[in-house]
Amino acid sequence: MDLALPTRLTVATDGTLGGATRRYTKLLGDLDGVYRDNTAWQAAVAEQGAESIAYAVDDHRYPDQAGGTGRDQLAADNAGALIVGTSTLQPGIVGDEYAMTRGHLHAIADRAELYHCLSGHGVMLLETVDGHSETVELRPGEAVNVPGHWIHRSVNVGDEPFVTLFCYAADAGQDYGIIADAGGMRSLIVRDGDSWAAVPNPDHIGYRADGKA
Ligand SMILES: [Fe+2]
Repeated sequence: MDLALPTRLTVATDGTLGGATRRYTKLLGDLDGVYRDNTAWQAAVAEQGAESIAYAVDDHRYPDQAGGTGRDQLAADNAGALIVGTSTLQPGIVGDEYAMTRGHLHAIADRAELYHCLSGHGVMLLETVDGHSETVELRPGEAVNVPGHWIHRSVNVGDEPFVTLFCYAADAGQDYGIIADAGGMRSLIVRDGDSWAAVPNPDHIGYRADGKA
């Protein structure tokens, strides 16, 4: 068996990840349907440009030791591996909602995840398919240990980039459709005076069962 060699990473508070093997960016123009107020989203795209970066994810993952691709190969050869990375979510407001990531349930729904805030001010919005909705506010030095079976989304409720260090099982995968299919998450994170509040999303129609398309 070819073992992966331990890798040293550097993690900066601005999200720079030394040793990253992958970078992923989500553009403002890619977020159609994520914000409830589609007219406000279109206005934001017109103002900031469809190509403006809404959030970026840098991560380190070990290569598939057998050289194959796909989850089956990974599970066979690299079972138990972690993906470690940083997420940098730009600030902003679309309609009443604070800037957010698409959010997801892990494709293997029982996989957990750690998010540790490196800088900025954010909220992790966490929901289960059977009706629970929770928020965990995060400032630098604070973290949330997300259990399996919780749909999760990062929301930036501050004025600066909200940067987190995350870590999750390499075989977890992401199911983004579960939120879109439900008309959005159960709660919206909206501006409330100088602060934020979680309010019910009138468009939410309930989640389908865990990970089942
Ligand atoms: Fe996740």
